[in-house]
Amino acid sequence: MSVENEGVKLNNDVIIPQIGFGTFKIPDGIQTLEAVREALDFGYRHVDTAAVYENEESAGVAVKESGLKREEIFITSKLWVSDFGYDEALKAFEKTMNKLKLDYLDLYLLHWPRAYEVNKNTWKALERLYDEKVIKSIGVSNFKVHHLEELLKNANIVPAINQVELHPTFQPIDIIAFCKKYDIKIEAYYPFAHGETINDERLKVLASKYNKSVAQLVLRWHLEKGYIPLPKSTNKEHIQSNLNIFDFAISNEDIEFIDKLNTGVRRGVDPDKTPF
Ligand SMILES: NC(=O)c1ccc[n+]([C@@H]2O[C@H](COP(=O)([O-])OP(=O)(O)OC[C@H]3O[C@@H](n4cnc5c(N)ncnc54)[C@H](OP(=O)(O)O)[C@@H]3O)[C@@H](O)[C@H]2O)c1
Repeated sequence: MSVENEGVKLNNDVIIPQIGFGTFKIPDGIQTLEAVREALDFGYRHVDTAAVYENEESAGVAVKESGLKREEIFITSKLWVSDFGYDEALKAFEKTMNKLKLDYLDLYLLHWPRAYEVNKNTWKALERLYDEKVIKSIGVSNFKVHHLEELLKNANIVPAINQVELHPTFQPIDIIAFCKKYDIKIEAYYPFAHGETINDERLKVLASKYNKSVAQLVLRWHLEKGYIPLPKSTNKEHIQSNLNIFDFAISNEDIEFIDKLNTGVRRGVDPDKTPF
C-alpha cells in the first residue's frame, strides 16, 4: 500500500490529514505556542488538543497566528469526563470554543467512556452540535467494543473516529476490527508508546534498512495500516522528521514483522479501569 499525504476520508466524507500533532502534557503558554507554531510552519495541518490538557488557548493562538486559512487546519478537542451529560457537554463545548477562539471545530471527541447511559446522553449533545454545524465531525476516544456497541444502539450518528492507544506493542485487534466494520477511523495515541518504542532494538535494526529513524518507520507503519497517528514532540528536529515520511514505503513482509510485535499489553490506562 502506498500512502501519500492526502488525508483520510471519514464516514461523513470529511477529509482528515493523516498525521496529527499531539499536544498532551505540553504546558499552556509559550511551550504549546512554540510547538504548534513549529508544527504548522513545517506543514502539519492537524492539531490534537483537549480540554483536560489545559492548552487549548495557546493552541488556538498558534492557529490564528499561523496565517493559514481556518479551513486549511483540522483541529480536534475532547470533552472531559466531568463534563459528561447533555447540558454539561453543551456548556463545556462553549468553553472550549472560547478558549480556542474559533467559530467551528473539526472534531470533538468524548475523551473517555463513562457509564452507558451517561455516554448516550452526552452523545446526543454532540449530535446536536454536529447538526448545528459548529462541529464538522464527532467521535469518541478510549471506547472498547462494548462501549461502542452500546452507543450505537441509540446513536443517530455513527462516530467518525475512535482515538485509542495504539503502537507496535499494543494493537487492540478487536477494536480495530469493530471500527472497520462500522467505518469508524482509528486515531492512534501513544504512537510511540509514550516514547518507549523509540528504543526498541528490533525496530532500530529494521529502521536502518530504510535509512529512517525508528519514529519515522513506526509512523509510516501507522499510515500504511490506515491509522491516524498523533505524534507529540516539543523538539524541533523530531517535529520535522516525524512528518518526513512520505518518501518511502515499508514492504509487506516488514509490515507483518511489526504487526507481530503486538503483546496486547497497554502502556496507558485500561478504559474499564479508569481512576477518574
Ligand atoms: N485520547 C487520549 O486519551 C489520549 C491519551 C494520551 C495521548 N493522546 C494524544 O496522543 C498524543 C501522543 O501521545 P504521547 O505524547 O503521550 O506519546 P507519543 O507521541 O507516543 O510519544 C511522545 C514521546 O516521544 C518522543 N518523540 C517524539 N518524536 C520523536 C522522535 N522523532 N525521536 C525520538 N523521540 C521522539 C517525545 O519526546 P520529544 O518531545 O523530545 O520529541 C515524547 O517523549 C498526545 O499528545 C495526545 O494528543 C490522547
